[in-house]
Amino acid sequence: MSNGRKRQTDIYIPGMSGRRPRVPVDMAALERAAQRKLSPPAFAYLAGGAGREETMSHNREAFARWRIVPRMLRNIAQRDTSVSLLGETLPSPFLLSPIGVLELAHPEADLAVARAAAAEGVPMIFSNQASVPMEETAKAMGDGVRWFQLYYSSNDELVQSFLRRAENCGCSAIVVTLDTTLLGWRTRDLDLAYLPFLRGMGIAQYTSDPVFNARIAQPAPSELDEQRPKLTLSLLRAVLRLRRTYPDRDLNKARRAVREFIGTYSRPTLTWDDISRLREMTKLPILLKGILHPEDAKIAIERGINGLIVSNHGGRQVDGSIAALDALPSIVEAVGGKIHVLMDSGIRGGADAFKALALGATAVCIGRPYAFGLAVAGEHGVREVLQNFKADFDLTMGLAGYAAARDIDRAAIVRAED
Ligand code: GLV
Repeated sequence: MSNGRKRQTDIYIPGMSGRRPRVPVDMAALERAAQRKLSPPAFAYLAGGAGREETMSHNREAFARWRIVPRMLRNIAQRDTSVSLLGETLPSPFLLSPIGVLELAHPEADLAVARAAAAEGVPMIFSNQASVPMEETAKAMGDGVRWFQLYYSSNDELVQSFLRRAENCGCSAIVVTLDTTLLGWRTRDLDLAYLPFLRGMGIAQYTSDPVFNARIAQPAPSELDEQRPKLTLSLLRAVLRLRRTYPDRDLNKARRAVREFIGTYSRPTLTWDDISRLREMTKLPILLKGILHPEDAKIAIERGINGLIVSNHGGRQVDGSIAALDALPSIVEAVGGKIHVLMDSGIRGGADAFKALALGATAVCIGRPYAFGLAVAGEHGVREVLQNFKADFDLTMGLAGYAAARDIDRAAIVRAED
């Protein structure tokens, strides 16, 4: 039985005994279930976006403007949802977008996601802001496909060290996120005055790095040097968390690590020349994440880049931005099949993936939904979410009249009248 039908059976048969899925299938219900599990700041950090969160709405509206035109009588009994990407055949067109600070969602954080991704044959893009060092997450995946997401630090040596570590733990591509040279104006986090990194959360790639740790004796200057928080009960709680940054619970070291991180995590001076330098630093394929303009896509090809992820960071960076899906067609055209184009930002179901593939994406990345699954039920929750995406895609593809993901073409969709 193909994947989608099996998933339906796996849900409907236990339903005869009165059992309903613990991890909601409906995306809005999934988000509400995650919210019930999480502290207000943890939920705000995962669910929120920049400014008025209009980019998040644009992402969804863009999917709604494309409509699938199902074709009938085309024998879709046997379906093949696989796609080819950078020399791998993936069983489904899904990857996991990098999400930082997963310990906000669940104590097993990246490890639970890694196990679920490997079990479901879905590649995981390790976050630069992970809660667990990449080596441990890689170990949890066995042979599962993993890539590493890089924030281009202002410290070149650290960039090199992250690249070497990613290569050594079996990452088969590097994804450079370009849209976060500054942190976006995150309204929900600002209203709760909550930034997890200041508490030593989401900096495990750094605190496990020899180059980083060699520098923390004299942390880089940053805005943190100018202010000290007042002593309150909340501060004491934050300090207790901060103490757990290093296994030896050395608070001074943890404080210096946070300062060094804040002072160096990004490189706002970043230009294409830095990308060319990065190209020289590793033999792994490099994908640029955050590309939204066709001219940038063309420059990326000139600079020897192997793939793009069209993305607006799930609406977390620039409010009022173009939807990633709306940027996709012109980028696909500019690229002309020379490199792979992936997309993320707003993928909430199988039909979204189908539309993105129809517009020329090779594959799509899932973001918040898996973090919500993690919050609701740990590794099991992530697996359920991934199984639902895969089943929904398989059934949507078949019902639209396509027996293979590689055959999905522009003729499968029309744009609705505005
Ligand atoms: C960081 O990448 C974030 O989106 O919070």
